[in-house]
Amino acid sequence: MNEKTTHRLEYRPYSFEVSETQLEFDLRDGETVVQSVLSIVRKPGTTDSLVLDGVGLDLRRIAIDGVALRGNEYSVDDRSLEIFDVGERCRVEVTVAIRPEDNKALEGLYKSRSMYCTQCEAEGFRHITYYPDRPDVLSRFTTGITADAERFPVLLSNGNRTAAGPTQDGRYRATWHDPFPKPAYLFALVAGDLAVLEDEFVTRSGRNVALRIYSEPHNIGQCDFPMAVLKRAMRWDEERFGREYDLDVFMIVAVEDFNHGAMENKGLNIFNTSAILAHKDTATDDRFTFVESVVAHEYFHNWSGNRVTCRDWFQLSLKEGFTVYRDQEFSADMNSPELKRIDDVASLRSDQFPEDSGPLAHPVRPDSYVEISNFYTGTVYKKGAEVVRMIATLLGRERFRAGCDAYFDRHDGSAVTIEDFVKAMEDTSGLDLSLFRRWYAQAGTPILSVRERRSDEALELAIRQTCEPTPDQPTKQPLPIPLALGVVSDGQETLGAAGIENGFDVSCETAAEVQNPDAGGTVVLRADQPETIVSFRNLPANAEVSLLRGFSAPLKVDYPRRPGALGELALNDPDQFARWDAAQTLLGNAILDAGSGGGNVADEALAMVRALAKAALAAPDDGVAKALIAASLALPNESWLLELVPGTDILAIFDARRALTDQIADAVDWLSLVEANPTGAYRPDLRDMARRRLRHQALRYALNHLDRTDPARAHELTTSLMTDADNLTDRAAALRGIVGLSSLNAEEKGKHLDTFYRDWSHEALVVDVWFNVQAQNPLPGGLDRVRALEQHEAFNPTNPNKVRALVSAFANGNPRNFHDGDGAYRWLGEKIVEIDVFNRNLAARLAKTLIVWRRHDAPRGLAMRGTLEWIRDHELSPDTGEVVDKGLA
Ligand code: BES
Ligand code: ZN
Repeated sequence: MNEKTTHRLEYRPYSFEVSETQLEFDLRDGETVVQSVLSIVRKPGTTDSLVLDGVGLDLRRIAIDGVALRGNEYSVDDRSLEIFDVGERCRVEVTVAIRPEDNKALEGLYKSRSMYCTQCEAEGFRHITYYPDRPDVLSRFTTGITADAERFPVLLSNGNRTAAGPTQDGRYRATWHDPFPKPAYLFALVAGDLAVLEDEFVTRSGRNVALRIYSEPHNIGQCDFPMAVLKRAMRWDEERFGREYDLDVFMIVAVEDFNHGAMENKGLNIFNTSAILAHKDTATDDRFTFVESVVAHEYFHNWSGNRVTCRDWFQLSLKEGFTVYRDQEFSADMNSPELKRIDDVASLRSDQFPEDSGPLAHPVRPDSYVEISNFYTGTVYKKGAEVVRMIATLLGRERFRAGCDAYFDRHDGSAVTIEDFVKAMEDTSGLDLSLFRRWYAQAGTPILSVRERRSDEALELAIRQTCEPTPDQPTKQPLPIPLALGVVSDGQETLGAAGIENGFDVSCETAAEVQNPDAGGTVVLRADQPETIVSFRNLPANAEVSLLRGFSAPLKVDYPRRPGALGELALNDPDQFARWDAAQTLLGNAILDAGSGGGNVADEALAMVRALAKAALAAPDDGVAKALIAASLALPNESWLLELVPGTDILAIFDARRALTDQIADAVDWLSLVEANPTGAYRPDLRDMARRRLRHQALRYALNHLDRTDPARAHELTTSLMTDADNLTDRAAALRGIVGLSSLNAEEKGKHLDTFYRDWSHEALVVDVWFNVQAQNPLPGGLDRVRALEQHEAFNPTNPNKVRALVSAFANGNPRNFHDGDGAYRWLGEKIVEIDVFNRNLAARLAKTLIVWRRHDAPRGLAMRGTLEWIRDHELSPDTGEVVDKGLA
């Protein structure tokens, strides 16, 4: 690897404090001039020169305490500025020019349509001016912005606005001051002709906070929902974590061109339009749910990330894993905790597990990186959140809260490490987490192999934990695993208080600790040995173990069950997560065993599906029951299935999955379930979303059935669904249905697609759905369709949302077509190389699609690898280069 690798253990503190940072932006077409004044104080005992990061800057002037430096007093290269002789205390003045209009990388200061905006995390600030661009340098920022008064009447930065008004030469200037010291990655600037939605929040200590959501004027009508969410999130963080907001104003700006979902800049969050706008005609139910979680997530960073930040980027999960945990808990409290857990685990399994078994596998706290932007991963985020969740489980609610309080109190205003977080938890709880720290250090998903031994009324579980080697970690140590389990017989909890009275009993020879069953009958053991034996005595013969309840640890489970056990649990386990998990395991087995003559499994799966469908007809409209059944009826996706049987031909998996879909479609009268769950006037509330989730799951099966048995009816049904739809959730479901009909010709489909496009071409996010539906169409000919869509007037490779809607949706969400021959790999390779020229972040993320080649069967794996080699032969950004090199290593 030719690029420089950064190692965690090589951390060195910076030699200077930057007590104040004054910035002055002069925004002009073609060129923006940035003047900075850094008040620098040398730390005692240091002698080194002052090194500032800076990339792509046109240096105009440099002075210390007002005296311009001569050429021999500093040196500049393409990544830094070094000033040789810096005393104890001085003011460093630097003037640079940058070109935001030409910035298609979308890092630093850039233009999105008519507005200027910034993205500085992780290392974007160095594209704005010379600065110590590292998270452990905290400074108080004052920012002046001057721009054309007419085109940029809204000028924003972090903190509070201290002045605003016309300049002598007829332009407009505003100044902002942020009283909280922060690292440069939390800096933000926005300038534009923006509309605003205003509201207010009174904190629990009685302070008024002005809330403002800014967007381009045509989008401001889609900001009511996020505003309501924001207020709920602010209240929840006070109540659940005791965290209050600290500035007089909290602002969010919606931006159309953005590499990520959203960014937590202090007091001025910047959001991708796709993560904030929510209106019934432009956002699906899933999107409303996503917006809720992102608004909360970025807000929660105000404490977990901003007030207490990261010492270096290896600590990224300190803020991201913790904040994901916090937003998950918020969404759980606002909605259904069971459903939230199910959806999060499904995404962990299909996104993070493959990463953790691939060439980019890394610990939650990585040891090295080439480009930190490649490490904003499922592992750092989602597995990081799982690790925090396990700590919360081990400590219990109250001790966990005390640990969080201690963490925030101790470290407010500083840049710290994951170790500081764990230490706070340890100190307040008295629990020894020394072994637990391995969860942060060790990569790979542990596998729990469970074997049952039954005799008379005793049941013994032998539980072994293992973990495959990952890059740089050939051997693994056992991890302490909080294992929540229960026992179910006749649909009843067997271990609860009643169970104990009845003489049922559980013991564990090797676990470090067994908690008593809670009132509900769940036991939590801490299994920290390679093998743990759990024995139950006096159980009824039909008892089944409900393992890993609530997904108490991020593991893969290999647990061969007696015939009928999974079906029983899938229908009757009182733990809703375990119920769903059993259903998914049974459906997965039915798909994967299909090739090896596993007829019985398929019968058991079909029996379960029939029972679920029957239960669905009787399910109450309580906002939970219907959605839970819908989740159990959804087949596990190909990405997760491949993870279970690596090396398998993914098209064979696809076909088997399709065959089971057909069988399920024919086994139940799905249409009556659709009709039993009509959609009324749209409301994004729990009850209606649960009903729609069930309705649309049933609709997919119903359409599959009609497509093969009554094509005219299928077309008629989808057409009327399209006409009747009064919201995007229903409309997108109808469009997906139409596009997926194999009985309908391309011409007819084209008419529907054209009408949809004509009706919604003015709404960028709806056009994204239109691209997405077509990109994911599994019918043959996908690559040709996607190539044609690339030429469509609405496609724009410089807009990440469009690339995600078409290119990523195809590569990650259309296995049938993406893996059909090697044409699509090559095509994706071309996209990666093209996009890498202007947006390395986007290109590097696309490249991650190909690095899983070892998971595939030999011909496909070789073809994917061949594409990676083809990509490597080009001049690549360090970001994409790192992904490709590691993918080939
Ligand atoms: N701090 C990140 C934004 C970010 C991501 C900056 C990647 C630099 C690189 C932000 O808090 C975040 O995590 N956003 C997520 C959404 C969130 C709900 C998990 C995102 O952008 O996807
Ligand atoms: Zn975050």
